[in-house]
Amino acid sequence: MTDAAGSDPLPRLSPAAADLLRRIEERSALIGVVGLGYVGMPLALAAMQAGFRVLGFDINGPRVVQINRGETHIRHIPAAAVAAAVATGRFEATAAFERLDEPDAVLICVPTPLTRHREPDLSFVAGTARAIAARLRRSQLVVLESTTYPGTTEEVVRPILEEGGLKSGVDFFLAYSPEREDPGNTDFAAPAIPKVVGADGAEALRLAEALYGSWAARTVLVSSPATAEAVKLTENIFRAVNIALVNELKVVFDAMNIDVWEVIEAAKTKPFGFMPFYPGPGLGGHCIPIDPFYLTWKAREFEIPTRFIELAGEINTRMPLFVVDRLAAAIDRRLGKGLSGAAVLLLGLAYKKNIDDTRESPALRLIELIEARGATVAYHDPFVPEIPPTREHARLAGRRSVPLDPEVIGRFDAVVIVTDHDGVDYRLVVEHAKIVVDTRNACARAGLTSDTIVKA
Ligand SMILES: NC(=O)c1ccc[n+]([C@@H]2O[C@H](COP(=O)([O-])OP(=O)(O)OC[C@H]3O[C@@H](n4cnc5c(N)ncnc54)[C@H](O)[C@@H]3O)[C@@H](O)[C@H]2O)c1
Repeated sequence: MTDAAGSDPLPRLSPAAADLLRRIEERSALIGVVGLGYVGMPLALAAMQAGFRVLGFDINGPRVVQINRGETHIRHIPAAAVAAAVATGRFEATAAFERLDEPDAVLICVPTPLTRHREPDLSFVAGTARAIAARLRRSQLVVLESTTYPGTTEEVVRPILEEGGLKSGVDFFLAYSPEREDPGNTDFAAPAIPKVVGADGAEALRLAEALYGSWAARTVLVSSPATAEAVKLTENIFRAVNIALVNELKVVFDAMNIDVWEVIEAAKTKPFGFMPFYPGPGLGGHCIPIDPFYLTWKAREFEIPTRFIELAGEINTRMPLFVVDRLAAAIDRRLGKGLSGAAVLLLGLAYKKNIDDTRESPALRLIELIEARGATVAYHDPFVPEIPPTREHARLAGRRSVPLDPEVIGRFDAVVIVTDHDGVDYRLVVEHAKIVVDTRNACARAGLTSDTIVKA
């Protein structure tokens, strides 16, 4: 099913577009996916399962070798799925970017982080656009999927692609379609999630619609790439702002001795006009802490401040400090000593439950804040055996998860639940910990009560 942005009759396609459309409909088109990470891998598998041949590109050579061996580098994508895809002979990964002229459609899924100065870092997108431009041929469809500010597809990607003389909408086709992947969420398989598409011209829109319609249950067409880019940012800003709101309420209600979790459970029984968001130790992941600031940056060009976004960022960034204050107060009150010299166990390092992604995880900041107060910190996370290298927390790299057993738990002055992974035995934790600081309401949800549990 398709939601059309307008009701204009479909334009008559040029021969180049008609040929590509036929190849998409017949599944004879070769689909290129650039960037085989959390977004690119599921996308490549979805295209393959829809009947296409898929050529995946990645600059990470070992990752390419691993994928071609049928192994997975993403925990929630089973190796069996990758192995099955490779075994069909219709899915291959490569680091040979000179092969970018082979695919009929190239879908760009490379990272869009922030720079050190918290400005959009489009170097991966621009680099990929240059690599595609070097091999661009007539009638290729190029779709940017990376999350970015409105205008990127037309102001950054298109000029690079056109440098060789081919024109978007005439010689090749260009679109933007944001990814709505939610790693670890098993309620929504990728094809069930509607796919928003905006394109540079009617033919590009028709081609992108046909391509995504091959596996997505529904495509939602909007009037331009910039609109589609704005859709994605709106979704993530909505989350960032609402999470900040409940984080603020958590602090206020805590001072009033009211449990914010109980409040939200009751509030969400209202059948309209309320949507539950949950507080936590701070934002994490590659999206929610970062994407809103892409809009902030772009809005400056129009001299418009984005106060909601800035305020949400401020509140969410302060959450780890709140957790540390609660931890210090609990150790002080219950053990009669200060945080300095205490031993603290963090439970969960990933930024959210049941995944192995530690990007921007508040747990990393918590380790640094608690250690800065003179305590020692260890962590347990069944999904993260070792802390991977990061730019912001370089000195934490290489630390290893400790086992979770009564003897280990008993060695620490406090356990802080940072990530509420399902597989963790919270009863064991509560039975053996001197203090449990719970930032996720995990104990209550497991039916555990104890005066050693402190919510934070
Ligand atoms: N992770 C999510 O849940 C999610 C959800 C929606 C949107 N997004 C967006 O999708 C984009 C990709 O995010 P991700 O989480 O998949 O990132 P990721 O880090 O998991 O994967 C990116 C991949 O791109 C590769 N890469 C980097 N530069 C490259 C280049 N120049 N050419 C080819 N490959 C290159 C990396 O080696 C890596 O394998 C970002 O814009 C992100 O904001 C992510």
